Amino acid sequence: MIYEVGKFYNVPVAILGETYYRGFYPNSVIPLMGEQHNDIEIINVTSEHYHIDWRFVRNRNFAIATDTDYSEVIGLEHGIIIMPEHILRIETRRMKCKRDFRDYPSQIAPWFTKLQEKYAHTTAKNGRCPHKGFDMTTIKPDAEGCITCPLHGLKWNATAWKLQQ
Ligand code: FES
Repeated sequence: MIYEVGKFYNVPVAILGETYYRGFYPNSVIPLMGEQHNDIEIINVTSEHYHIDWRFVRNRNFAIATDTDYSEVIGLEHGIIIMPEHILRIETRRMKCKRDFRDYPSQIAPWFTKLQEKYAHTTAKNGRCPHKGFDMTTIKPDAEGCITCPLHGLKWNATAWKLQQ
């Protein structure tokens, strides 16, 4: 099911613990995207983490992530991750889809070409990104019929689910 802006969906969320984290106050509700994982291979992020589903984040926090911290490059909010030690608990909440994802800034990711090479001959079966298994079927394809995985930027043809270079 493709998520539409303005509609409500049940989404996994993290309840933040007692620390202020990247613009989120203690006990904030942070929408999550995909499973907990690390990116030891290729990307070289050794710590376990979750990605934030920016489609559901409150306007205030989205503004902090996009306009204050990183004003130069569109899409850098994709790189803000949340660690399990920051999280009090994970639950499901009914939340409003406030926006679509912005473009992924793959042009500035030094590891991106290696990631593309590794997945060049795979398919995203049933819309699941073979990198970390993210379900991309809630994302509307772009004008070229492609979906960019919001976790690490691999771009897939949403019909054949082949990687687009
Ligand atoms: S999960 Fe990493 S690019 Fe899709």
